[in-house]
Amino acid sequence: MNVRRAELMISCARPAQFPVTDLPEIAFLGRSNVGKSSLLNALAQRKALARTSSTPGKTRLIHFFDVVRGSREIILVDLPGYGFAKVPERERRSWQRLVESYLENRPPLKAAVLLQDIRRDFSEDETLLLDWLAERGVQTLVAITKCDKLKPMRRKERIRQLKKQIAKPPGGFVATSAGKKIGVEDLWRALHEMILSSQDDDVL
Ligand code: GTP
Ligand code: MG
Repeated sequence: MNVRRAELMISCARPAQFPVTDLPEIAFLGRSNVGKSSLLNALAQRKALARTSSTPGKTRLIHFFDVVRGSREIILVDLPGYGFAKVPERERRSWQRLVESYLENRPPLKAAVLLQDIRRDFSEDETLLLDWLAERGVQTLVAITKCDKLKPMRRKERIRQLKKQIAKPPGGFVATSAGKKIGVEDLWRALHEMILSSQDDDVL
């Protein structure tokens, strides 16, 4: 399905700058360099909407992207990555505060996508984050990224291993490659399902 419009709404360094909207919002979380900005570009069918880089720690602000796909309009939110050792402690803490204040108090937030590189095992960072999101009632799915880096047999084996490492997230797992556009439509479908089920929760 075609993305009719995709544009950067605003980049925020402080919670006071978060846009006031009631469109459903999806947040992208994960280790620095895992491929958040790249996957967001693949979803938005744009090459360089979100800035990507082989240098970890590229995304330092919270970027809000307004995306119209078919008849639906949603906001995709690119969050700064964690786990990048070269960032000074003070700066790291300030990103963490910014991300937490976003995740803790953001009524339009309908779901989160936690990204995990297919070549790495889940670490405590991811399991703590998944628990933290569950405690706050944020529905989450895990997108396994950079699947093109492995040959099909090895890819299947790694996906099986990763699924065994954590409890099944509410939105399940989606195997993706932003580079080779694998799993992008599956991810859209899974995102819409999470948005719809969170609307059911609102009604109850
Ligand atoms: P931060 O903004 O630093 O947190 O990183 P990020 O998670 O936004 O990662 P980004 O999308 O910038 O990608 C990091 C690097 O991984 C870039 O060099 C991308 O080209 C590469 N990359 C991202 N997705 C894929 C993919 O699906 N396949 C391959 N082969 N490389 C990818
Ligand atoms: Mg990024």
